[in-house]
Amino acid sequence: MIEPALRTESPRTESPLPGRLIAVEGVDGSGKSTQIDLLYKWLRSHGRKVFFSEWNSSELVVEATRKGKRRMLLTPTTFSLIHATDFADRYERQILPMLKAGYIVLCDRYIFTSFARDRARGCNTEWLREVYGFARVPDVTFYFHLPVEMALDRLTRSRQQPNWFEAGMDLGLSIDIMESFRMFQGRVTDNYMQLVEEYGLVKLDATAPITEQQRRVREDIVRAIDLEQFPSRIEHVVHADYGAAPAVFEEDWRDAEGEW
Ligand SMILES: Nc1ncnc2c1ncn2[C@@H]1O[C@H](COP(=O)(O)OP(=O)(O)OP(=O)(O)O)[C@@H](O)[C@H]1O
Ligand SMILES: [Mg+2]
Repeated sequence: MIEPALRTESPRTESPLPGRLIAVEGVDGSGKSTQIDLLYKWLRSHGRKVFFSEWNSSELVVEATRKGKRRMLLTPTTFSLIHATDFADRYERQILPMLKAGYIVLCDRYIFTSFARDRARGCNTEWLREVYGFARVPDVTFYFHLPVEMALDRLTRSRQQPNWFEAGMDLGLSIDIMESFRMFQGRVTDNYMQLVEEYGLVKLDATAPITEQQRRVREDIVRAIDLEQFPSRIEHVVHADYGAAPAVFEEDWRDAEGEW
């Protein structure tokens, strides 16, 4: 059973699906990938059926995104639509079929990324909700809250400065890239805070140690989802010549592919 506090209601009437949907959200560098990777490995190690999908990873738009960004061809609207196309492609070809097949689907960024970021670029809120109207609201969405100054600090530890788009330089807020990052990501953070209220995202302190955050993530998942309902049929068979190797049971794939 999903605890009421963790349940996010969809604005539309939707029939329940056998799978469960979990998403992570937050500004660049807030620790989303770190946490969802740990969660994925933990669920797998406990023999759960789990599938992972990442923002901006669809083959369909990878070239267009790269070209558009490199040549500075994107406006806030086309920037938003290109990400929406990536999302729609993954949603219809991966996320929804896997939910229908009874998997726990983990998403590194979901529609809230667009709601927060594209709105900060000036896109209309209602328009954004319409564009993503086909997508289900996740069972649980974690929002990793990191003050902008700390996000900048983490980012500049691995490279000299933020990239053009994560600093919102396309908006012309400031000619100084660091200052532009502060202003743009500040807007994104304000938008996320509104989404916490509106959609009941679970807000976590992203400045806390990695292990502490992961403990909280697992506790919330155990409370929200009956994990016993998602046993994996992937077992380890021991082959006389080759040792242990994973065997994928055919029904898993049939379930996934039969629901197109
Ligand atoms: N709790 C934490 N404390 C300190 N550093 C952390 C913490 N969590 C993650 N990091 C570090 O911060 C950096 C960014 O983490 P990560 O890649 O998980 O963020 P992200 O939210 O996925 O970023 P992006 O949006 O750019 O993909 C990494 O170097 C990671 O090791
Ligand atoms: Mg990441």
